[in-house]
Amino acid sequence: MKYDFDVHMERRGTNCEKWDLLEKEFGRKDLLALWVADMDFPAPPEVLEALRKKIDEGALGYPVAPDSLVRAVAGWQRTRHGWDVGEDAVTWAPGVVAGLAFSLMAYTKPGDGVIIQTPVYPPFYATIKEAGRRVVKNPLKREDDRYVMDLEGLEKLITPTCRTLILCSPHNPVARVWAKEELEALAELAVRKNMLIISDEIHQDIVYSDAKHTCIASLSDEMASRTVTFVAPSKTFNIAGMNTSVALIPDEKLMARYVSVVNRLHLGSLSILGITAMETAYSKCAGWLDELTAYLEGNRDFTEKFVRERMPKARMDHPEGTYVFWIDFRGYGFDSERLMDLLVNEAKVALNNGRNFGTEGEGFARINIGTDRAVLREALENIAGALEARSNR
Ligand SMILES: Cc1ncc(COP(=O)(O)O)c(C=O)c1O
Repeated sequence: MKYDFDVHMERRGTNCEKWDLLEKEFGRKDLLALWVADMDFPAPPEVLEALRKKIDEGALGYPVAPDSLVRAVAGWQRTRHGWDVGEDAVTWAPGVVAGLAFSLMAYTKPGDGVIIQTPVYPPFYATIKEAGRRVVKNPLKREDDRYVMDLEGLEKLITPTCRTLILCSPHNPVARVWAKEELEALAELAVRKNMLIISDEIHQDIVYSDAKHTCIASLSDEMASRTVTFVAPSKTFNIAGMNTSVALIPDEKLMARYVSVVNRLHLGSLSILGITAMETAYSKCAGWLDELTAYLEGNRDFTEKFVRERMPKARMDHPEGTYVFWIDFRGYGFDSERLMDLLVNEAKVALNNGRNFGTEGEGFARINIGTDRAVLREALENIAGALEARSNR
């Protein structure tokens, strides 16, 4: 192993949302932070080295995104995900959530319905509502002890003013990596019903050895022409603070509408350090990512075993990807309020309240395992201890 992910990185006092907002968000500071989806690991050394070089040049004025950046992005999609997206399809967003908001402005009208598959990442609700569109829920369903998409339910929701789906692939918070066959079934429906797919694939790179990510737009030319895909180096390389994300839009007309919104808002440029970080990450850090994924897979296996053995009334499906996992604590008889109280005030851990991901999340919490094993172990021990103490009372 070239990189050591067991080294603890202290993030308190570094302007870090995850560790420095604990008091504001949870009412106390003395918590282990396993909520916001970024990791407690430094960015890849190759990225840090390139940033130091850039700083040493001294020039931090208006940048241009070089062709080599576009090549690095398209090359990543081709070599890591088998999608030959084409360089003309590459454009930018300051963040993926911003990109979702731009897309809603570009492709839907005020009052239109926009479908999401719940429980899901809370900003999906917010961006739709803030754009003056309607949230239309197609809840995931349970099948064979895992979450699956309800395509029959989806078909019933589609109308001329409700034909846009924001797909979360892999899915936060249920940690499913949609299988190719599942995406093909969705694609068949999308083509038949003339849907537009806004596919948030920000978690595409963190996928464990027993799963494989497929970019839905790569399934066919038909899908490429009706899909706007968002990816980013932010989750993958832990550089979310660089505010650099990517929109992949093979269809010329969809691209023109997206670019027109971005231009109207004057949000089309990337930061000079973001450009360097993104290009270095996509062109030089595949090896780092492979080792990171292996480490996170160890954390996944550890968490799965721990929940099974030490939290007998909790349930967690087998996570296939992402570093945010969905734990069902309903077996302990808590509603979300009591669950959060126990986690914060007794276990001293900050997890995301499942309720924020939709009504389906009542009694659930989302845990971020993107930290060193020692912190993860301590957090899980604390949770198990608090549950045991409560059960014995
Ligand atoms: C599904 C999903 N989309 C988007 C984001 C955030 O993207 P950004 O910070 O680039 O807006 C996250 C972060 O957790 C996420 O899980």
